[in-house]
Amino acid sequence: MCGIVGYVGLARKTKSVLYEGLKRLEYRGYDSAGICYIDGNKNTVIKSEGKLENLNAKLNKIEINSPIGIGHTRWATHGKPSELNAHPHSTGPISVVHNGIVENFYELKNELEQKGAKFYSDTDTEVISQLIFYFINDGKSFEDSVIATFDKIQGSYAVAVLNADEPDKIIATRRFSPLVIAKNDDELFLASDIPAILPYSNEIIFLEDNDFAVLKKNSIEFYDNKKNKVERKSKKINWDPVMIEKAGYRHYMLKEIHEQPRAVFDTIRGRFSDDFETVIFNDFDENLIKDVSRISITACGTSYHASLIGKYMLESISRINTQVELASEFKYREPVLDSNSLVIAVSQSGETADTSEALLEAKKSGVKTLGITNVELSKISRESDFVINTKAGPEIGVASTKAFTTQVVVFYMLSIYLGLVRKVIDKKAAKKLIKDAVAVSKIIQKSLKLDDEIKELSKDFYSYKNFIYLGRGINYPIALEGALKLKEISYIHAEGYAAGEMKHGPIALIDENMPVVFIAPDDEIYYKKLLANFEEIKARGGRIIFITSSSGSLEILGEGDRKIQIPKCSNLLSPLITAIPVQFLAYHIANRLGTDIDQPRNLAKVVTVE
Ligand code: G6P
Repeated sequence: MCGIVGYVGLARKTKSVLYEGLKRLEYRGYDSAGICYIDGNKNTVIKSEGKLENLNAKLNKIEINSPIGIGHTRWATHGKPSELNAHPHSTGPISVVHNGIVENFYELKNELEQKGAKFYSDTDTEVISQLIFYFINDGKSFEDSVIATFDKIQGSYAVAVLNADEPDKIIATRRFSPLVIAKNDDELFLASDIPAILPYSNEIIFLEDNDFAVLKKNSIEFYDNKKNKVERKSKKINWDPVMIEKAGYRHYMLKEIHEQPRAVFDTIRGRFSDDFETVIFNDFDENLIKDVSRISITACGTSYHASLIGKYMLESISRINTQVELASEFKYREPVLDSNSLVIAVSQSGETADTSEALLEAKKSGVKTLGITNVELSKISRESDFVINTKAGPEIGVASTKAFTTQVVVFYMLSIYLGLVRKVIDKKAAKKLIKDAVAVSKIIQKSLKLDDEIKELSKDFYSYKNFIYLGRGINYPIALEGALKLKEISYIHAEGYAAGEMKHGPIALIDENMPVVFIAPDDEIYYKKLLANFEEIKARGGRIIFITSSSGSLEILGEGDRKIQIPKCSNLLSPLITAIPVQFLAYHIANRLGTDIDQPRNLAKVVTVE
């Protein structure tokens, strides 16, 4: 999510290589940014909160004649977005930029503080600069200090380090986070992502886990974590930069569908106590929230569908009366809100005008408000009393996918939290629910294997002009979301219905020209009822795509019908799994139709008008 760049050489201006590189990484996250360069024997850091333009305004005012520097765009994890928490982080002559998470940050920080270290930021990254400085003071060389530091650090990282006392080199290392180097004869470039440095050279070296690279103007050396020299060869990359930003996927949407296990994992990471018995939301004041007896959720588009799933979770787990309303309706309806109401505004961007206006309207009644957004500094985050951030990372495709699943998982955690606060569930029940959540990323990962199968299946379905999606219970919103996804990117007319409602009207539409997509996970209540709806459709000649986790045989499936087998999962989390095939189905149908998938006609990613 964050981005790293680095430069050592005389051929270009360090300032512009760093700034232009950060600009090319900006799409990954941008709550703050900064650079560090060495002038003489001094490491100078320039940082800014907010958009890169803020950093640029500062850079424009100064002349930088340094042949070496590192830069970073930050998407906050530990510590709120602020200039103080922005990277690079410096301790004495050492300056560091870091992507990833130091998991044993508290232990290391405590250890260092006991030895007299003084921390200035709330970030996990600062322990890296502090530790390197500690080892240098202990008599180790710069290289040995960096290796010793990462010997102690647990977690994932891509890191670049400058040392003002050895101003000719950058030391870089990585584990589980990408880091690449581009080289020309007399200059080297470093970045977390190829697009940042591809314009300068297509000779790229990929660092491997636990590699340490020492970059100087005319040389580069690689070591393993025992300081043995290793060889890393460069590869010629012939991709165009746009392709690389998409990590080899044809569209951002497909990339983002595949990022969902990671996005869900990042969203739940750090939110459960070690014994899995409680949910941690640092932002909440338990006393303010415990008397909430009614919840009103407001949202638009895909966020509205995630909210409908949230209602099932909140009512089922925490037994709170919950309503969900489209934000564009909520604002003008004069909703009845009392002092024990909590209004939740859900928005990927945090900037949607309908949703933010609805939130402002609710605030006038003096109710407590909670924002669930994917962008930390967004309007909805700023305006809400409490905020829970989804950690989907930047979502570029207009049709929302990974933001949706992370919103759903936030509702699940919130339901457990409120269930415990209100004492309607005990720690044992919470533990069972939490364990299911911890396991769900892997189940999502398994369902991504459906990509090829659904691509194949889309051949038989892309020429239909209308579709119906049916679901029940907590998967009824997935029927709505599946239909919305198809409409948005393929321009095919599609409707989502609660399956039980078919007989009250929509069944009149069924004939051989109407494919019906069933969302039918194998649960105790709804599965049998969905089979009955299935029979009703079959009897009227409809063509069926049956998405199910049941392994039972389905004799009733006809020749043109298809079954999509999804992995089993707890009922409450099943929408995270059923969402995957409907996303793939929309994507592959649209891809066959050749539409502009990432920027469909008439739609915008962020709608800032009412
Ligand atoms: C736009 C987008 C939709 C999105 C909706 C709500 O209409 O095209 O994909 O679901 O806005 O966006 P939000 O950022 O508030 O979740």
